[in-house]
Amino acid sequence: MALTDTTVELEVTDAPLPKIEAELIAAPIFEDDETSVFAALDAGSGGELSRARTSREFTGETFEMFLAAVTADGWRARRIALIGAGRRQAFTTERLRQIAATIGLEARRRRVARLAFHVGDELSAAAAVQAAAEGLVLGGFDPGLYKTEPKTGAPAALQIQHERGADQVLRDAASRGRVLGESSNLARVLANEPSNMLTPRMLADRAVTLGLDAGLRVEVLDERAIDAHGMGLLLGVARGSAEPPRLIALHHEPAGAPDGPVLGLVGKGITFDTGGISLKPADGMERMKDDMAGGAAVICAMRAIARLGAPIRVVGVVPATENMPGGRAMKPGDLLRSASGKTVEVVNTDAEGRLILGDALWYARQHGATHLVDVATLTGACIVALGRAASGLFGGPEWWLDQVVATALAAGDRVWPMPLYDEYLDQLRSEIADVSNSGGRPAGAATAAMFVKQFAGDLPWAHIDIAGTAWADEAKPYQPKGATGVAVRTLAELPFTRDRWR
Ligand code: BES
Ligand code: MN
Ligand code: ZN
Repeated sequence: MALTDTTVELEVTDAPLPKIEAELIAAPIFEDDETSVFAALDAGSGGELSRARTSREFTGETFEMFLAAVTADGWRARRIALIGAGRRQAFTTERLRQIAATIGLEARRRRVARLAFHVGDELSAAAAVQAAAEGLVLGGFDPGLYKTEPKTGAPAALQIQHERGADQVLRDAASRGRVLGESSNLARVLANEPSNMLTPRMLADRAVTLGLDAGLRVEVLDERAIDAHGMGLLLGVARGSAEPPRLIALHHEPAGAPDGPVLGLVGKGITFDTGGISLKPADGMERMKDDMAGGAAVICAMRAIARLGAPIRVVGVVPATENMPGGRAMKPGDLLRSASGKTVEVVNTDAEGRLILGDALWYARQHGATHLVDVATLTGACIVALGRAASGLFGGPEWWLDQVVATALAAGDRVWPMPLYDEYLDQLRSEIADVSNSGGRPAGAATAAMFVKQFAGDLPWAHIDIAGTAWADEAKPYQPKGATGVAVRTLAELPFTRDRWR
């Protein structure tokens, strides 16, 4: 898997099926309705597809797959794949994205070099083509980065067939989808990376490469610069590690952009979370290599924002450190001073994400952010609340959260609004400092968000807790186990919605 730009070729075509040059031509097929493409494909297979349909070998149930050889004369493709799309009524762009990813993944397993995918007219054309492109690219993601023998081979060429495939709007939609799919995959590479292969310094190096390639201005603050800025929360977390911290800032400053708004994106970049002195149990601790998934989302969303030419300024900030229990580590009861001046009593060193987010939000505000979104694998409590089905969304005001919800839904990143009652601040009371870093078990996701809020000033601010959604414990037809790339597309699309901001 390329660490920077993937080289997949992606075309949109209105060519008729027999003219399409591919090893595999795939099309979504409904359970309860026949689309016109079915007859054309059936002809290519010499009636094999309708035989499978009649015998119910293939029913069209979601993600079901059926392959047949091309037997008709004059076709350039070798094989046809039907993929179940479920009931027509329940068909959405997200379902299409998943179906395209399922085909992309199957093509990768079969080492199909050229894959074509038919997109029908059930959904709005541009949104459908974009989602199909995203899905096909997502399906090409290979998690086996360190296998000495590659087990799969992603297609080198993708085609989307659409009846209006000559239309420039659809071509633009496909290339937008490709950028977003690639950016999601790059974030998955980062989040899958073991902690010894991705220390804070190495994460910063990757951000520099990705950022410069995309045309961003990239700043990396080392431990001395972090200290000079007074970022005591980030330094406090980093104290327990032999690896020095970094603060990564990526700036998208397009020529002619207005002074405001400026979107500030902040992502938690804990490259490994042992819990520190409040040590985590051994069971499952290996998963804590993905505790920088929010940071990866911000870095890779910034890449997409630059490549897609977002019309406003955006600053992405990723505080990066390990959370380790070394001899100089912060200890429960310790006092930290944040860059914003607020003092924090650390009652639990495992509540480290909110600490580093505090200083990073301050940094984003210092750099002119007028609207904030932070993304973090922040709390086990969020997994208890929502499981793997949605990320938790906190913050305000309402119109800003609505904006994030709508953008996330369209991007295929489900988020669910959670309350942020003033009472949660009571759980964070400290006798010696302005605030403590843990509110205990009750409403653990909300008290974490309430802590983070102390550093957002009074800007519109949304906090997305991705603890449950950043990592898939089980493989799905459209997604292998491991990092999901959650939130990349949401963050990348957000600056394009600025006309609806206040
Ligand atoms: N990184 C964890 C949260 C997490 C847990 C993410 C499991 C994904 C899976 C975070 O730093 C953490 O340890 N949170 C604590 C907070 C508590 C000490 C207040 C938690 O959730 O237990
Ligand atoms: Mn922790
Ligand atoms: Zn953590």
